[in-house]
Amino acid sequence: MLLDPLGYGLALRRELGPVFSVRTFPYRAGLVCAADAEVNRAVLTDHERFVGGDGAALLRPAVGAGSLICTPPPRHLRHRKLLLPPFHGTRITRWAQRMRELVHAGLPALLTGDGVPVRPWAQRLALDVILRVVFGLTDPGRAAVFRRALTAFVGMDNLAVLFLPKPWQRDLGPLSPGGRFNRLRATVRDLTRAEIAGRRARSDRAADGGDSSGRDDVLSLLLDARDEQGAGLDDEELLDELTGLVLAGYETTATTIAWTLHLLAHHPTARDALIADLDAGSDRLLKATVKESSRLRPAVFYAIRTAAHDTELAGRPVPRHAFVAALFPPVHLAPRLWPSPHAFQPRRHLDADPPPYALTPFGGGLRRCVGAPLAQLEIETVLTEILARAVPAPAGPPESARLLSVTLVPAHGARVRFHRRRPPPATR
Ligand code: HEM
Repeated sequence: MLLDPLGYGLALRRELGPVFSVRTFPYRAGLVCAADAEVNRAVLTDHERFVGGDGAALLRPAVGAGSLICTPPPRHLRHRKLLLPPFHGTRITRWAQRMRELVHAGLPALLTGDGVPVRPWAQRLALDVILRVVFGLTDPGRAAVFRRALTAFVGMDNLAVLFLPKPWQRDLGPLSPGGRFNRLRATVRDLTRAEIAGRRARSDRAADGGDSSGRDDVLSLLLDARDEQGAGLDDEELLDELTGLVLAGYETTATTIAWTLHLLAHHPTARDALIADLDAGSDRLLKATVKESSRLRPAVFYAIRTAAHDTELAGRPVPRHAFVAALFPPVHLAPRLWPSPHAFQPRRHLDADPPPYALTPFGGGLRRCVGAPLAQLEIETVLTEILARAVPAPAGPPESARLLSVTLVPAHGARVRFHRRRPPPATR
């Protein structure tokens, strides 16, 4: 599963059918897996039978109990209603120029002429976008302090402690994994708490007619958000939400950018067609390319729910409280849904919409990714800016996929060699 997650998922689907159980850490009592578009649709959208939140309980020590990703209903719905408007597509497009500036600042590290692992490059970019768009940090010094603290905290070498048995997670001093985790967590939370307090003070001054800064970053919008009863998120809830947004948004977006550039480097016909289409001022093939890379290499392997009561899936019994995962790759690679499923063919998305729940990189139902519009804009902006200046080419053999927690990552960071285009096209 860790070394060849795609092959393993496909083999289980082939040999065991659309629903099967695996015993895997951290789901020691078993994880019921759905691996079929129709069954996945039931898992993701039948909210009476399958409930979200508890499946991500492992992350609670990192993000806090108030984060959307691990909050069960009914609290989940209240938070989601408050969180969705700041991520709405029309609001998010205002951030494209900021994203372009961040990409330009990062280009020298990418366009060296040598093979470069794209994933770590994209991770830094994705974190900078979150710091700017979500936290609203404009001061470079303060952004650097946050970047250092968050990079250390959300790195897998730190979060791996959450996958250890409970007694090993204990804080046994500064050098123990639990001690390090607690120290990094405290640093991140202190910084974020101070940012929230500063922002509340400024927004109070603005309300008094003083400093009206007209900010539209996600934190500022969340500070003003109110539910139907007129209540907003308190500081601890905001703190948990912000940490959850970093955790949910940073690896995923960076990994999708990395896979897409890696796949383009290894498919010159699709790459050249995309560059020609972008040069002609169209984004049709760009959107199709991102869909195709998310189909072949979805950043997230599965979405998880818990059975609310004894039930069944495709005729197989599912006991109450069982964890149920909707696996994405076996559906994204099903020959019945996708002819030549392993071929990278962006054009297949131009002519027809896929059947429902055949392509779900952002999950579905009431827990579908809230950050999807932000991620899509970011991925499209990064690709447009890079492909206007450089042509991705292989820097070694195509990389296989590995599973890092629930993220499907390229085994060697998605190495790509970029050849500069001279002169860059005048149109963009
Ligand atoms: C390409 C990038 C991304 C991918 C592939 C992705 C994928 C996903 C998936 C599969 C889920 C689970 C959905 C489900 O359970 O049905 C999810 C949830 C979530 N994502 Fe994303 N995500 C991405 C980017 C982002 C970004 C940029 C943010 C915010 C900054 C974000 C915030 C969230 C949150 C808060 C949830 C929990 C939603 C809920 O439980 O209601 N994601 N994402």
